Amino acid sequence: MSSDAPVALITGSNRGSGRAIAEQLEARGYRVFSLNRTVSGQPGERQCDLADPAALASVTAGVLAEAGRVDVVVANAVDRVLDPIEKMSEEDWDRQLEINLSSVFRLVKHVLPALRRSRGLFVVMGSHAGSHYFEGGAAYSATKAALKALVETLLLEERNNGVRACLLSPGAISNLDGDDAPTKVSVESVGRCVASIVADWPTDLVVGELEFRPAVVPPPPVTGIDRLLHV
Ligand SMILES: NC(=O)c1ccc[n+]([C@@H]2O[C@H](COP(=O)([O-])OP(=O)(O)OC[C@H]3O[C@@H](n4cnc5c(N)ncnc54)[C@H](OP(=O)(O)O)[C@@H]3O)[C@@H](O)[C@H]2O)c1
Repeated sequence: MSSDAPVALITGSNRGSGRAIAEQLEARGYRVFSLNRTVSGQPGERQCDLADPAALASVTAGVLAEAGRVDVVVANAVDRVLDPIEKMSEEDWDRQLEINLSSVFRLVKHVLPALRRSRGLFVVMGSHAGSHYFEGGAAYSATKAALKALVETLLLEERNNGVRACLLSPGAISNLDGDDAPTKVSVESVGRCVASIVADWPTDLVVGELEFRPAVVPPPPVTGIDRLLHV
């Protein structure tokens, strides 16, 4: 790939949606760098535990120095512990806040000067969980809801500096290898969606938030007005 190719940086691309997003960006001609806790042998991959702010700062600085630019950053990595509040440990709560929320804030700060220069795009993987709450989802939903505030504020603050920000709010994704459930969005479709926003959408508009969900769902256990009995 030529050294003047646009550069993408993504977190958590060793598996799941992140891997598919990285593949689709590569297919669109992006030189892709990744910050992965578990290394998988991809080109451009750097070992980085997002729970470690010092590692995040130094590894990101290394990528920026090597790449010389960054045009797109995708904050994709996630830590999910689905426990009722009564059972969730403080360590699990703190780690999810660090990985799902604080590391995104830190990453924004590290890449912002480079994104201003490239007039680039910062994409954040949110979730339906940020607006649809469920038992056991306190930390996951709290971090995803907070990302909406972070991304919207980033957009408001940085748009006139040339930086666009986009929150994706997906429904269920078949992120595990071998899961071909027709009632979830495939990771390939997630990758194509992100790559399309990055590469195909005009740059005189910003997709501030994009919600998507599976085209087919399993039959709901409760329908109609009876749903209100369960709120
Ligand atoms: N799956 C869904 O149904 C769904 C629905 C809506 C939104 N989303 C969102 O879409 C994004 C991708 O979800 P997914 O389900 O495809 O992901 P996933 O398969 O659960 O993979 C999570 C990724 O995050 C990485 N990660 C976790 N902790 C890390 C850390 N401390 N440092 C660095 N990387 C770390 C994992 O690396 P390791 O391999 O090292 O653990 C892995 O690469 C997430 O933001 C998620 O919230 C997913």
